[in-house]
Amino acid sequence: MKIILLGYMASGKSSIGKKLAKKLSLDFIDLDDFIVSKEKMSISDIFVKKGEIYFRKIESIYLNEVLQMNKSYILALGGGTPCYGNNMELINNSNSNSFYLQASVNKLSQKLISKREKRPLVASLDDEQIFEYVGKHIFERRQFYEKAKYTIKTDNKKKSEIVNEIKSILN
Ligand code: S3P
Repeated sequence: MKIILLGYMASGKSSIGKKLAKKLSLDFIDLDDFIVSKEKMSISDIFVKKGEIYFRKIESIYLNEVLQMNKSYILALGGGTPCYGNNMELINNSNSNSFYLQASVNKLSQKLISKREKRPLVASLDDEQIFEYVGKHIFERRQFYEKAKYTIKTDNKKKSEIVNEIKSILN
């Protein structure tokens, strides 16, 4: 069983993924962490030193590598992973269950404001600019996110509720 979590930055892909993995006794893989361990560089350093185009190229290569692993897991993607190259096609052809964790621009912006330094795309923006950026960015990206097999609305839900919702869909 392969379960893939996708959605915008700060939508809870990693934290929900970890909880779900524990509940289902499955391995958890975070694509960003996988990239960091393979490249031996932080995501921010990859963006700054090698550029976003390089990041998108390797992101797709490592996504492929993880999708081809012959084992069960929960995989949390990066916020941009579904939106580049043929990544969403690969995901949908990979015999997995994909879940879009959908949150409002407000909730995501609030979370990103307090955790922006690790995210190169928003690290240099002030609070007000983050709201504007997230609104526009989600408008562009939702067409990719909505290709996931299932959409889970996460606003005002506890992590445990979201985990249970995913679990009940899988049952
Ligand atoms: C990105 C999201 C990040 C990371 C990179 C780019 C994006 O992952 O892959 O900073 O384009 O939305 P998280 O969604 O885990 O923050």
